[in-house]
Amino acid sequence: MNMNGYRCVACAVVQTADYANFLCPVCGGNLDVSYDYAAAAQGMRESFSKTAHDMFRFAPLLPLQQPRAPFPLRVGATPMYPVRPAGEMGGMCNLYLKDETVNPSASLKDRASAVAIGRALDSGAGVVAVASTGNAGSSLACLAAATGLRSVVFVPASAPVAKLTQMLAFGARVLAVRGNYDDAYDLCLAASAEFGWFNRSTGFNAFTREGKKTCAFEIWQDLGGRVPDRVVVSTGDGNTLSAIWKGWCDLKAVGLIDRLPRIDCVQAEASAAINRTIAQVRDGNQQDVDWSGVCVSQVRASTVADSISVDRPRDGLAAVKAVIRSGGEAVTVSDRDILAAIPAMARATGVFAEPAAAAPWAGLKKMLREKRVTADELVVCIVSGSGLKDIGNTRTVVGEPIFIEPSLKAVRECQTA
Ligand SMILES: Cc1ncc(COP(=O)(O)O)c(C=O)c1O
Ligand SMILES: [Zn+2]
Repeated sequence: MNMNGYRCVACAVVQTADYANFLCPVCGGNLDVSYDYAAAAQGMRESFSKTAHDMFRFAPLLPLQQPRAPFPLRVGATPMYPVRPAGEMGGMCNLYLKDETVNPSASLKDRASAVAIGRALDSGAGVVAVASTGNAGSSLACLAAATGLRSVVFVPASAPVAKLTQMLAFGARVLAVRGNYDDAYDLCLAASAEFGWFNRSTGFNAFTREGKKTCAFEIWQDLGGRVPDRVVVSTGDGNTLSAIWKGWCDLKAVGLIDRLPRIDCVQAEASAAINRTIAQVRDGNQQDVDWSGVCVSQVRASTVADSISVDRPRDGLAAVKAVIRSGGEAVTVSDRDILAAIPAMARATGVFAEPAAAAPWAGLKKMLREKRVTADELVVCIVSGSGLKDIGNTRTVVGEPIFIEPSLKAVRECQTA
């Protein structure tokens, strides 16, 4: 294993790899896993070129004892599709979708759960727990089932029924909290401490970022070793975005690339704590930001995109740093635009996203309109979760079927209507 320690995202104090807690002992900040990059670089090309078709082919840059999946399911190695230049996206000719909906539980979260489960096994834990808006929970439940571990999921009781059904089908103990995601999060922290469960919750657990960063490794491979100009990421807690950024930084650290993409942060208008903080830091116009002094905003979140509805982002600082360091855009989109993006993207590409996963499409469209992106840039939108996970809201914007009698005459009539 090439992992050699942790660095605090806020105060940069370092811990050794055997540090047993999850948060910085000095300031309580989130930790970021560090590696011996010189050691990881050795054999990296060979490891990356393996045909092993899952994310564990990136083992030299994963914090695990075993360089293979602890379950038979395939996580990662998802497809990336070029988007036809015509229409919807104003002539963009270098636009791609990274389709994370084909992971085992139908979201990008499986990458995080896969590494978390590997770490839980390494630490001898028998029960894994998570607080979730829905996808992290269905993901953990899925991969725990495939591994033979027990899982406990804390979700807001209002989570979409498809996500709750997934968790229950996988046999998780589902604790549907009468409160919001933030209430579920705090409860999961307290319960995991009391019962000794391995807590996979986003932000608190440093290993989720390590799993999700493999999405960036794959994009680089999918593009034949090119670095995109931007990667557009839907953001709630900020962990996914900071992970995508870390993936590119890792590739640079091991000498496989020599420049980095911009990472654009898309948030829903009424759940935009991270974008608000990015604007504040940029307004401050500081040359060298003192990250330990940056306090991420809190909001009263409310959006149809349940997966990114977050009052208090649990990995907000890491995401703010990533956007600022990469020179990315912070773009907020209305619920209306998010919902409109679902059929628009589905019809232009054949990829069906849940609201949060369609947000990058809406965000990119807005950035094009505002000339913050040009049509010739090489852009990747991450489609982070399947449309089948939340059809309730989508149903309102896709139109109605045409109900007919079972006769050819009825078909003829609706052709002319
Ligand atoms: C489908 C989907 N997209 C985007 C996100 C945002 O990830 P993060 O909360 O790490 O910012 C989530 C998180 O739940 C998600 O489920
Ligand atoms: Zn610290």
